[in-house]
Amino acid sequence: MTPRSSTLDRVLVLEMVRVTENAAIAASRLIGRGNEKAADAAAVEAMRDALNNLDFDGTVVIGEGERDEAPMLFIGEKVGRGHRDSGVGSGPKIDIALDPLEGTTITAKAGPNALAVLAIAEEGGLLNAPDVYMEKIAIGPGYPEGTIDLARSASDNVRSVAAAKGVEAQDLIVCVLDRPRHEALIAELRGLGCGIQLIPDGDVAGVIATADPDTGIDIYMGSGGAPEGVLAAAALRCVGGQLQGRLLFRNDDERGRALRWGITDLDRIYSLEDMAKGDVIFAATGVTDGSMLRGVKRKRGGLITTESIVMRSSSGTVRRVSGEHRNHRYA
Ligand code: FBP
Repeated sequence: MTPRSSTLDRVLVLEMVRVTENAAIAASRLIGRGNEKAADAAAVEAMRDALNNLDFDGTVVIGEGERDEAPMLFIGEKVGRGHRDSGVGSGPKIDIALDPLEGTTITAKAGPNALAVLAIAEEGGLLNAPDVYMEKIAIGPGYPEGTIDLARSASDNVRSVAAAKGVEAQDLIVCVLDRPRHEALIAELRGLGCGIQLIPDGDVAGVIATADPDTGIDIYMGSGGAPEGVLAAAALRCVGGQLQGRLLFRNDDERGRALRWGITDLDRIYSLEDMAKGDVIFAATGVTDGSMLRGVKRKRGGLITTESIVMRSSSGTVRRVSGEHRNHRYA
């Protein structure tokens, strides 16, 4: 039952799938076409369209960028039917973190694990993270609180997870984004004898994979986008697990962005709850095939199939939704 304290109507759970399906179907036309920008633009437009058909007073808090750099779904943009029709918000106030196409390069190259992703929370429930890098560490559910700690070294964290799991460090698989900046981390993990699953892109899926025993991934480590960190936090809030993140700043411009967001402690380590608190709904639709979801398939006779996942923190419910779409507007 919807807890009385939550303003997230349970109807929104399935509505969120409609939103990510829209984005995924629109982006899927660009799979393997070598055009990241076009794929992203198609997903953004379709997601915005779907959001604007919902009866809520939504504010994008994690979006496509700041107002001056993103034409649509910019941070601070108001979405929802009330705003679209009259410019005045109506319905519950909802904060939205979105990535209409998580894995633009993957989509352009027809690689694995591209997703359309969305998380919603009650107003103030999601960290307004600037678009900078975030150092992250995540594990799935079932470990004692405190098993991971970003303040400790990668080796200490691996040993701690291994001890909690009752195995040796070399029995663990760590997922890491395949980037030159992770050379030292990878060398440290190799020194421990861990298995390393290097992913080309898509660390939202990488973090969520730690919560799914079928993936074999025990830990996610390394730096990726801060917005993706908030989205992954929303997902782990629903399925359980631990995630910590620390913003990384490469220059004064990035530090300035954080200050504009009201972030004054630049070294702060954010917990799961710091990034996504209260009642949270997370939804994702596969664009290309991946560890969590199958991608969009275009079949004979104009039939399009989708696979989505939608979950809610207050109930812990996880639903997998298979869609068959005929006459879809983004077909
Ligand atoms: P995009 O969809 O915006 O291309 O992001 C893909 C991604 O791999 C994220 O999953 C990850 O957080 C980020 O890029 C890492 O950034 P970078 O490619 O600069 O290392």
